[in-house]
Amino acid sequence: MFVKVERDYETMSQRGARIVADLVKQKSDAVLGLATGSTPVGLYENLIRIAKDENIDFSGITTFNLDEYEGLPASHPESYHTFMQVNLFDGLGLSEQQTNLLSGMDIDPVAQCADFEMMIRRAGGIDLQILGIGGDGHIAFCEPGSSLAGRTSLVALHPKTIADNTRFFDKKEDVPRKALTMGVGTILEARSCLILAAGDAKSEVWAQMIEGPVTSQVTASALQLHPWAIAISDRDAAAKLKNLDFYQHIDGELADQPELPLWVFQPELDQRRNSMPTA
Ligand code: GLP
Repeated sequence: MFVKVERDYETMSQRGARIVADLVKQKSDAVLGLATGSTPVGLYENLIRIAKDENIDFSGITTFNLDEYEGLPASHPESYHTFMQVNLFDGLGLSEQQTNLLSGMDIDPVAQCADFEMMIRRAGGIDLQILGIGGDGHIAFCEPGSSLAGRTSLVALHPKTIADNTRFFDKKEDVPRKALTMGVGTILEARSCLILAAGDAKSEVWAQMIEGPVTSQVTASALQLHPWAIAISDRDAAAKLKNLDFYQHIDGELADQPELPLWVFQPELDQRRNSMPTA
C-alpha cells in the first residue's frame, strides 16, 4: 500500500482529484469506481474544477458506484444516486448512460448484483476505484465479517453504520438497515484503488487498515493484498500510524514516479499481468 499524508482535508482532496484527472487525461475511456460519504466530496469538487480549468473531456468515461441503500428510490434525497448526481455527475456533465449504480428498489437483488458484476467486466474492469472507510473499518458496505472474496450482494448493515447514518435522516426509523454493495473481491479486482480518510475519528481504523492484520473484521485491511492501493489521509487520520515517518520517506523518494501503474493505461500489459503462461 502506498501511504501518503497530506496537511489537511483540502490538500488530501486536491491530491486525490489530481490522480483521477490525470488518469482521464491519458485514458479518455477510463472506467472509474466511485464512492459516497462525506470524505470524497472534496475530491469531487476539485475534480469538477480541474475538469473545467484544464478542459478535460469526461464524455468517454464509464462509472460504477460501490453501493446503494436497499429500499430507497433513486429520487430519495439521501439515496446514493442523488448524492452522486449532486456532488459529481451534474458538475462533470455525465450522462445516465455513462453511470452505473445499483438500484435499491429491485425486486430481484440477486439477479441485479450478478448483472452488475457482468457490466463491470463488459466495461473492461475498473481502472481506478475510489474508496472511503467506515467507522468500523468497512469499505463500500462490506461490514465486519464480510468475505474478503465476496462479490456484489445484498447485505445487512452494522448497528454502528446505521448509527453513523442517522445524521442524514429525519427519523431513526427511516435509516436504511440493508444495502446492495460490491464485495471485497469485486473491489480488489480494480486495477488500482485510492482510499481516503480525514479526521481523528478515523485514526484508529486507518491504522488497523494499514498496519493491522488482514482481517474480515476490518474489511479495508484487504487492500494490503491489492497490488496498487494508494491511501491518502490528512494528518489527523494518520496520527496513529507507527511507521508514519517511513511512509513519508517513501513518498518523498518516489516523488518522481507516476501515481498510477502502467498497467492501468496499457490493456495489453494488464492482460499479460493476469494471464497464466500457456507453455
Ligand atoms: C458509508 C459508505 C462508505 C463510506 C463510509 C464513510 O458507509 N458506504 O463507502 O466510506 O460511509 O463515510 P464518511 O466518508 O462520511 O465517513
